[in-house]
Amino acid sequence: MGRLCSPKCRLGRVMGWLQILLGGLVIAVSIASLFKFYSAGFFLHHEDICQHFYHVSDADDGFDLRALSDRVGEVLDRMDKLQEKLEKTVQEMEKSKVDLGKTTMTRLEHKRFLEQEVIRPLYGAHIALRQIRLPQADGIRNSTMKEVPLMNTFIVEEIRKYITPKENRVGNMNIYGTERIYNTIGHACVLMKKELEEYMDYDIGSYCKDDWSLSQKLMVNGCDPLPRRRCLTRASKVYQKPYPINESLWRLPDDRNVRWSNYQCRNFQCLSSKNPKRGYSKCIGCFEMDKEKLKWVTNSSLAVDFLIKDVLAIKPGEIRIGLDFGVGTGTFAARMKEQNVTVVSTALNLGAPFNEMIALRGLVPLYVTLNQRLPFFDNTMDLIHTTGFLDGWIDLMLVDFIFFDWDRILRPGGLLWIDRFFCNRKDLDDYMYMFLQFRYKKHKWALSPKSNDEVYLSAVLEKPPRAI
Ligand SMILES: *[C@@H]1O[C@H](CO)[C@@H](O)[C@H](O)[C@H]1NC(C)=O
Ligand SMILES: *[C@@H]1O[C@H](CO)[C@@H](O)[C@H](O)[C@H]1NC(C)=O
Ligand SMILES: *[C@@H]1O[C@H](CO)[C@@H](O)[C@H](O)[C@H]1NC(C)=O
Ligand SMILES: *[C@@H]1O[C@H](CO)[C@@H](O)[C@H](O)[C@H]1NC(C)=O
Repeated sequence: MGRLCSPKCRLGRVMGWLQILLGGLVIAVSIASLFKFYSAGFFLHHEDICQHFYHVSDADDGFDLRALSDRVGEVLDRMDKLQEKLEKTVQEMEKSKVDLGKTTMTRLEHKRFLEQEVIRPLYGAHIALRQIRLPQADGIRNSTMKEVPLMNTFIVEEIRKYITPKENRVGNMNIYGTERIYNTIGHACVLMKKELEEYMDYDIGSYCKDDWSLSQKLMVNGCDPLPRRRCLTRASKVYQKPYPINESLWRLPDDRNVRWSNYQCRNFQCLSSKNPKRGYSKCIGCFEMDKEKLKWVTNSSLAVDFLIKDVLAIKPGEIRIGLDFGVGTGTFAARMKEQNVTVVSTALNLGAPFNEMIALRGLVPLYVTLNQRLPFFDNTMDLIHTTGFLDGWIDLMLVDFIFFDWDRILRPGGLLWIDRFFCNRKDLDDYMYMFLQFRYKKHKWALSPKSNDEVYLSAVLEKPPRAI
């Protein structure tokens, strides 16, 4: 004894440790619940507004559900971790079972023991804990009095009014077949409470502050969707009617049609790549029409630059609608418009008025971030083109979610055109796997060096039929 711990003794140790931990957990849950239930009766809501929304006349009814669920959530997290650890132990036992032929049986028994006696009950307890959370919320308040998600997070009245579900005025069900309409906000708004409260601080019906940059900051930090507002958006004082469509596509818009106060530049000429103080760093040169006119229509020295006519020739006449996911001023959509293809371009105003520029050219800017599922239905788009946005900085799991979303909206036979994606050479395999996992048909595929360690990848891939 002592020199080498036998599997049995090791298991014993694991079990002892387990029992202590589980015991602790049970005590923690009991104390937390007891404390919360006990104090509930004395808990007073500070905010009268709450009563107004819930139509509760006596404040004693107020029950800090959020705190309770926070506490339970904490315990759930801990149990999650415990379960993970246990499963790891089982995996390790499985691995070493191959080496030790002699003790195979006993180890197998141990493994079974762990699985059946420990992990399963723990899982059961876990599920049980999860279930008590909702019935308690329902038991205390009936359906109309259910706690509104995030309601207690915000104090500013306009935010609370916005996120309060709006009951139908006539009948139980509305046009959607639902009882009420939820106005949603991004859950990460909770992390930017101060900024959101500043954003929602206005007099109803008056002019909003000139604060689109605050809105965008909220959005890119995960407060997306943003709440709607009931104030009047400012516009340029000297707004001119846009140029006619036969001119607007390839002409810099009128400077007077943009509110410049939140940009470093004050006019479109200033956004030129020659100006070091242009104030933006993505898609440099995109505001120079002579450069833009060359894109996707003239031969380039790089193998990764495909021409629009070559890509459209893959599916003559079949490509009619598409999405351009990237940073740009709409040039891809402009060229596609000339081919009678309607393309919507995503745009964020990252240091320059990309949205205004695209719209003033007579194209459709879609103001979206990477946070959200795209607002298109399944199997609808003929084409997704992406350039200048997704590159080596992006988290692999995020890329995965994004690609699956693109796959969702692309129709069978639709084309995914990855245009000058770039990343570090050593990461290329990871990203290639991401691109190839969908088993699309490869129409075009090209790699070119970007620098010593970086490579460009371009591809045109076709979504196969999904007969399931
Ligand atoms: C809650 O339910 C009770 C009985 O189930 C009912 O009398 C009461 O009106 C309900 N309250 C609201 C606000 O719907
Ligand atoms: C654009 O169209 C209008 C009339 O539709 C015409 O008067 C004008 O000359 C055209 N502009 C150009 C640059 O072709
Ligand atoms: C581009 O190159 C192809 C062949 O490589 C040629 O047929 C075509 O005429 C060129 N187009 C232009 C605009 O130079
Ligand atoms: C686009 O549509 C117009 C009008 O139907 C037609 O005259 C033109 O030839 C089309 N252009 C292309 C490139 O197909």
